[in-house]
Amino acid sequence: MQVWNEYLESNKQRFLDELLDLLRIPSVSADSKYKGDVARCADSVMENLLKAGCDKAEICPTEGHPIVYGEKMVNPAAPTVLVYGHYDVQPADPLNLWHSGPFEPLIKDGKIFARGACDDKGQMFMHVKALEVMNSTNTLACNIKFMIEGEEEVGSSNLGIFLENNKEKLKADIVLVSDTSMISMEHPSIESGLRGLAYMEVEVTGPNRDLHSGVYGGAVHNPANALCKMIASMHDENNHITIPGFYEKVLNLSADERKALNTAPFDLEEYKKELDVAEVWGEKDFTTLERTGVRPTLDVNGIWGGYTGEGAKTVLPGKAFAKISMRLVPNQNSDEIAAMFQKHFESIAPKSVKVKVTAHHGGEPVVTPTDSIAYKAAELAIKTSFGKDPIPTRGGGSIPIIALFEKTLGLKTVLMGFGLDNDNIHSPNEKYDVANYYKGIETIPYFHKFYAEMSK
Ligand code: BES
Ligand code: MN
Ligand code: MN
Repeated sequence: MQVWNEYLESNKQRFLDELLDLLRIPSVSADSKYKGDVARCADSVMENLLKAGCDKAEICPTEGHPIVYGEKMVNPAAPTVLVYGHYDVQPADPLNLWHSGPFEPLIKDGKIFARGACDDKGQMFMHVKALEVMNSTNTLACNIKFMIEGEEEVGSSNLGIFLENNKEKLKADIVLVSDTSMISMEHPSIESGLRGLAYMEVEVTGPNRDLHSGVYGGAVHNPANALCKMIASMHDENNHITIPGFYEKVLNLSADERKALNTAPFDLEEYKKELDVAEVWGEKDFTTLERTGVRPTLDVNGIWGGYTGEGAKTVLPGKAFAKISMRLVPNQNSDEIAAMFQKHFESIAPKSVKVKVTAHHGGEPVVTPTDSIAYKAAELAIKTSFGKDPIPTRGGGSIPIIALFEKTLGLKTVLMGFGLDNDNIHSPNEKYDVANYYKGIETIPYFHKFYAEMSK
């Protein structure tokens, strides 16, 4: 719409500057050292919501980091869109691999480099600016509620309680989220599902202390050796996961569904080149798109024990550890899978070591409908701003709260993400293209317009 384009055009620089200000706050939720910064970031989000046109915005304290709530109610007869996003970010380390400071946003080659640029400050803030665009041009078609949390990157453990306790306040018709990726600017897409997650930590104990690896080596089982062997045994020669029952509830796609999923543009050579790997890897008989979209996985996220400092120290460690995550797909359940993992891990431990297994946060997989009014509104919004129909895809990442929107609030979600898979989220040099940021701000008002029209 003309008025939106004009407003965006004449406020472009400020919209970018305001995002950069938000990116300067190191709101790392996992590290208690940043607790004050996380709180300061929440305050900033709240002020931005008020400035953009919310009638009401507030900080909702939790046992952990605060949730920011805001609303702009325009018409009781219009539908209400609940916008969800997160202002917390992943830790920035390893710091030495960043080309510029993670909390000193830098614009280079049309990209914003900073921790949180894409995940999720940049994407969340598009909704704040889109509200300003609609509010300033008197074109708000839907009521909007914002729920922006500060604990997504640590498992959203307090948000579930917040949903339970605020059902009335959060009453809406649809949840709209920009915290996922699309294929490219040339091939816009909408994710119609997310994987779930079961995250485990294991501790393997050998002798009661670290030993000289020459004096005892060969006679006492090295827990690091034992751990590696146990981990290695959890994939078979076809790269299937060997935990008994693991695949029992996996929903297999029909031949037609698989065909549709694999029609999405994907260049395997380009993919390998970009990651500098000679070969891709994964479950036999599945394509890369299937492996990341609709198949479950098991991966070591971190592994340690013994001496990891400079130089060489001869030691037979007393303990070894690993953090292991499993991405889940419909209809797997995170608690069931965590229990299966624990039982299996204990059962494959040799008598020469002791093992301890603990479960961290989990989350359930989700599939979002592609035949709903809200999905169609998102489709049309993207078609209008990009000039192309979006392709439905399946996302490999997880956003645990999405399953609870349905379970607790009875709400479906639309995942209208504008990130790119190579935005380096959670990695050094995270970036977000300035063009994607503006394209998001341009697209979101169309969603509200079409969703209101289609809801009539
Ligand atoms: N925004 C991501 C999830 C995501 C990224 C979904 C790209 C689809 C495409 C989210 O912030 C995230 O990183 N989630 C975590 C899970 C959480 C429990 C720590 C994840 O997927 O590892
Ligand atoms: Mn995110
Ligand atoms: Mn993330």
